[in-house]
Amino acid sequence: MCGIIGYIGNNVEQKLLKGLEKLEYRGYDSAGLCVLRHGNFYVEKSKGSVEKLREKTCVKSEFGLGIAHTRWATHGKITIENAHPHFSSKGEVALVHNGIIENFEELKSALEEKGVYFYGETDSEVAAKLLSGRLSLKKIQNLVKKIKGTYAFAIISKKNNSIYFAKNKSPLYVAIGKDCSMIASDPSCFVGACDSFYPVDDGEYGKLDLKKVVFIDKHDKVVLKKSKKLDIDYFVDGKNGYEHFMLKEIYESKNVLGNIIQNYSSPLYKKLLEKVTEIDFNRVYFVGCGTAYHAGLIGQRYFMNNIKKDVFCERASEFSYQNRILDQKSLCVFISQSGETIDTIASLDYAKRCGAKIVSITNVSYSTIACKADINLPIFAGPEIAVASTKAFVGQCAVLFLLSKVLSGQNYIDDLVSLKEDLDFGDDEKLKRFAKKLASEDKVLFIGRGFDYITSLEASLKLKEISYINSIVEPSGELKHGPIALVEEGTILVVLATESELFIKTINNAYETKSRGAKLCLVTNQIVTETIQKEFDYVFKVKNTTSELMPVQTIVLLQKLAYYVAVTKKTNPDKPRNLAKSVTVE
Ligand code: AGP
Ligand code: GLU
Repeated sequence: MCGIIGYIGNNVEQKLLKGLEKLEYRGYDSAGLCVLRHGNFYVEKSKGSVEKLREKTCVKSEFGLGIAHTRWATHGKITIENAHPHFSSKGEVALVHNGIIENFEELKSALEEKGVYFYGETDSEVAAKLLSGRLSLKKIQNLVKKIKGTYAFAIISKKNNSIYFAKNKSPLYVAIGKDCSMIASDPSCFVGACDSFYPVDDGEYGKLDLKKVVFIDKHDKVVLKKSKKLDIDYFVDGKNGYEHFMLKEIYESKNVLGNIIQNYSSPLYKKLLEKVTEIDFNRVYFVGCGTAYHAGLIGQRYFMNNIKKDVFCERASEFSYQNRILDQKSLCVFISQSGETIDTIASLDYAKRCGAKIVSITNVSYSTIACKADINLPIFAGPEIAVASTKAFVGQCAVLFLLSKVLSGQNYIDDLVSLKEDLDFGDDEKLKRFAKKLASEDKVLFIGRGFDYITSLEASLKLKEISYINSIVEPSGELKHGPIALVEEGTILVVLATESELFIKTINNAYETKSRGAKLCLVTNQIVTETIQKEFDYVFKVKNTTSELMPVQTIVLLQKLAYYVAVTKKTNPDKPRNLAKSVTVE
């Protein structure tokens, strides 16, 4: 999941550090850089964030060439030794890696038998130890032939003035600017330096020089590529006065809905939707991970309500391991904010091999998933920096809603417009009060039925991710089949009840826990009678909207609740422990 960057040009340390800051969402266990100047390496590494690396780095405003890395550890502890860059035996080659070298143990043993010494525990160091001396394309070709697994490499040597690279299944992009050349895991690093970029494809390797790049494909042939324009507007960043990206992004949900309404009303996107209606399918699979999977569950309900076909929803990490009917008549919808989640990519490749029609719903139009899909439907959410996904979920639900309506010949605009107008982020003071209570708890239970159950799954994931509270979700009706045993004096139960036909049933389930000592919190759009009010310790009224869109109306409030719990607990909501924004290793 790590982020890698390479740079040739002026102010090299500064550019590498700035790039790493943009890539930090990909992991923040450790960071490191290596700059080549006058035939020598200048190396710095630090545990933790890029800020720590910046404090240590001696920034020279000189021309130079360098590589840098921000790590999300897969192999080996979070130590300085394991931080990238990694070095060849004689220290003349430096390498940064994103991915996992699957056959590293075998390669390492063979090298150790030859007397090669390893200073760290990472799989990546093995790749560095396979290199030495002056680099050449031939050497990179030999390296990638030996390696099994996923990788994006940027490699330099004291004996060359080039950055060598190779890619398999981990994202990698190259850009040539007016007076610099860059390589990175994400084109956001190119903003301000380059106007266009080249995606590196799987199996490709090459060499980057000042204002020049050579790409070689997996058959060892030179590839000529067309560059893609860098959409600078997409990358506008900054916290905009908010203390954290997460809060800013929660509030941006309104804009996301606005963007979706506007774009999907334009001829270009209407045509795209029309293309989906032309697909001949008899069953649908929604596939994604984490929050995107929860959006898929919502999509499944939309399709079950509106389209009379078999509809399934699965986690991408499980999808390709099951025996299922997947053929030319299957429509597979892959949902991914980043468009780079490795499990989702693997599932997409599998569905393609089976002949299924592929639609993707992504936030990054140049991403691997968007490019591999037959049709990509963007969510127009703009960059989502906080690790916990918020506005992207809103965008995913909105696009799934409009897709289900378009496929069943119904209007969707009016409902989305009223949702946008009425989107209610809740009473801050009340939310903070409840957050304070939650912050002192070790566990919390969420219950709901139908859409509310799915919203609970997402609300609970948010809470887990950023406040580390053990948060459990059950469909209300399941409580008595086991989970109610968890309820003891003072257990907090968050009850979501926004569907009128299911309201009373869920309320009754909540009372059953109250009798056993639970403290109750209700989130609803329904009328709250005095009796109900008395039984619940906390009540959050949310505005009403069409029932299928209630998950969006409800989740923004619960995202904010999770945010306030994290702030109360003084955990960083933007960079939760052990996580990274983009999961690019299986
Ligand atoms: C969301 O808060 C999580 N950080 C995570 O579950 C995420 O949704 C998941 O990793 C999928 O990412 P994607 O949408 O970029 O594919
Ligand atoms: N496997 C490498 C490490 O543990 C890179 C990890 C990654 O790309 O997530 O350092």
